[in-house]
Amino acid sequence: MLAVDLPRRWRHVRSVARRARWVAKQLALSEDLVVAAWLHDIGYAPELVETGFHPLDGARYLRRIGVDAHIVSLVAYHSCAQIEAEVRGLGSELVAEFAPAEPMLTDALLYCDMTTGPDGDYVRPAHRLVEIRGRYGPDHEVTRFVERAASEILTAAARVEEMLPGQPR
Ligand SMILES: [Fe+2]
Repeated sequence: MLAVDLPRRWRHVRSVARRARWVAKQLALSEDLVVAAWLHDIGYAPELVETGFHPLDGARYLRRIGVDAHIVSLVAYHSCAQIEAEVRGLGSELVAEFAPAEPMLTDALLYCDMTTGPDGDYVRPAHRLVEIRGRYGPDHEVTRFVERAASEILTAAARVEEMLPGQPR
């Protein structure tokens, strides 16, 4: 769904999944992390765009096709999506529709997403936030989200970083 129309996004997703596999192994986490990593940005697929907020559109699609609810929640709330939902006026919809995701896997998925740049390369989380702001520009909802969520994103990423021997990978 992403490979044809959004090849750059797809490159990012493949690298997030690769990092998730490594993190899951290092920290003995459930395979759900890897599955969610593969699926986390599916809501960007043009055919799935409904609200234009990709965690919600992606999670709704995954629920529709019967994906396990734990995975769906990880996608719905990935990388502080609840904060971006609030910025977009979709906060209560997200919370009403999807159960909270497992905290450790949520942190681990955020770490994988926030250490993987748009082309799949390793980036420091703080750098990734700078890159996102630059890509979307000053007035965009995504930029407002990143500004509001920065400390939470960096704290969560640091929690995972501390547990990983000799990152990055
Ligand atoms: Fe995403």
